[in-house]
Amino acid sequence: MSQLRARTLSASEHGAFFELTAAAFLEEPHEDWRAAHREVFDPERAHGVFDGPELVGGGEHLSSRIALPGGADFPLAAVTSVGVRPGHRRRGVLTELMRAQLESLRGSDEPLAGLVSSEGGIYGRFGYGVSTRDGVLTVPRGAPFRSTVEVDPRPVRELDLARGEAFATELHRLLWTQRPGWLAHDANWRNRVRNQHAFQWGAGALRCATHPDGYVFYRPKPGWKPEGPEYGLRVVELVARTPAAYAALWRHLLDTDLVAQVTWPRAAVDEPLLAMLENPRSAELRVLDGLWLRPVDLDRVLAAQQYSAPCEVVLDVHDAFCPWNADRWLLRAGADGSAEVARTSSAPDLALDVSDLAAAYLGGTSLTTLAAAGRVVAHSPEALRAATRAFATERAPHCPRNF
Ligand SMILES: CC(C)(COP(=O)(O)OP(=O)(O)OC[C@H]1O[C@@H](n2cnc3c(N)ncnc32)[C@H](O)[C@@H]1OP(=O)(O)O)[C@@H](O)C(=O)NCCC(=O)NCCS
Repeated sequence: MSQLRARTLSASEHGAFFELTAAAFLEEPHEDWRAAHREVFDPERAHGVFDGPELVGGGEHLSSRIALPGGADFPLAAVTSVGVRPGHRRRGVLTELMRAQLESLRGSDEPLAGLVSSEGGIYGRFGYGVSTRDGVLTVPRGAPFRSTVEVDPRPVRELDLARGEAFATELHRLLWTQRPGWLAHDANWRNRVRNQHAFQWGAGALRCATHPDGYVFYRPKPGWKPEGPEYGLRVVELVARTPAAYAALWRHLLDTDLVAQVTWPRAAVDEPLLAMLENPRSAELRVLDGLWLRPVDLDRVLAAQQYSAPCEVVLDVHDAFCPWNADRWLLRAGADGSAEVARTSSAPDLALDVSDLAAAYLGGTSLTTLAAAGRVVAHSPEALRAATRAFATERAPHCPRNF
């Protein structure tokens, strides 16, 4: 009878871990990818699951930062490289990994874990919830703006990647905490932006265009037909300091010769572009799950974000995978947006799973919507209304990047 055992890895095990990940994702272990991954690999943040001496599963959590409502810059354990060797699946290897990983985060400096999931049905059982949504946004070339849209007339220029990355990182540093769900440009950002083999959708080399107040990274996807060119542009990251710079960057993309359409697979679901187009039906938006968050120490996570309205609500939280969170919690948010969270024996107002709190966190899905979906039980309609208002945010949370 095989015995699964999870433990952190040693530096010398990088090669085995990397090859396991590549095999799990049906990828070739490209050498440039291996070298890029070694740069961010921290063995103490990587777990392997062993069946006897054999490494059969693994995953790592990189050190990142996430913007929370109210502008807090909060540590995030960015879970990635999760994979189980084909032939060893559906025997609890991932479950063993998740348990080891979440237990290692408990009481640590990183009480919040997050990931971008390969498939949608995997992580809810481990207490992860959909905290941001990806808008798969497609706009045809040349789509005109409404006449009232101001386009910053200063030029958009293509830059080489090294200069583009330096400019982007500087601007991003000033802006990123303004949007709940955005992540800091950490050590893994360049690695991912440059080497997203699996996520290029057949698109070509990364390009960068900058404006004095913004930038966009994108990849052209070649396409030729007998009648002529039909390129696609895939946006990787677009950031602007002002609405007029945002408009200028979009015009740069939409007016590129040879191109049939521009797609941003990880746009915000409330992307302002949707309200700028003369013909709103010209854009297509498909909504998918984006960043999944997992509060590991629930009270610290709930107290870290700012709330939009005062509320005092008792949450009866179910958490089968991290039972230390399963309790009644009094969440008291003040008029200044700050909150205190403490265990309580008072009667509950709302009963919900920890993954539902993750879905409401950052202002993603409203608690009222979750109650309508049967996921939140409201013992008090007033408390549900108050909590819904408190968790709401001005803009939809957005996480434009994978990690
Ligand atoms: C997804 C993956 C990690 C699952 O590993 P595993 O060891 O087979 O998972 P477990 O045996 O621990 O399964 C735990 C539970 O999750 C379910 N599950 C596992 N993979 C699933 C999937 N892709 N979709 C839906 N449910 C899934 C199992 O059925 C099981 O359910 P149960 O608790 O109700 O019995 C593995 O299939 C894999 O490596 N896939 C390819 C790479 C990948 O997608 N990695 C995830 C990156 S985000």
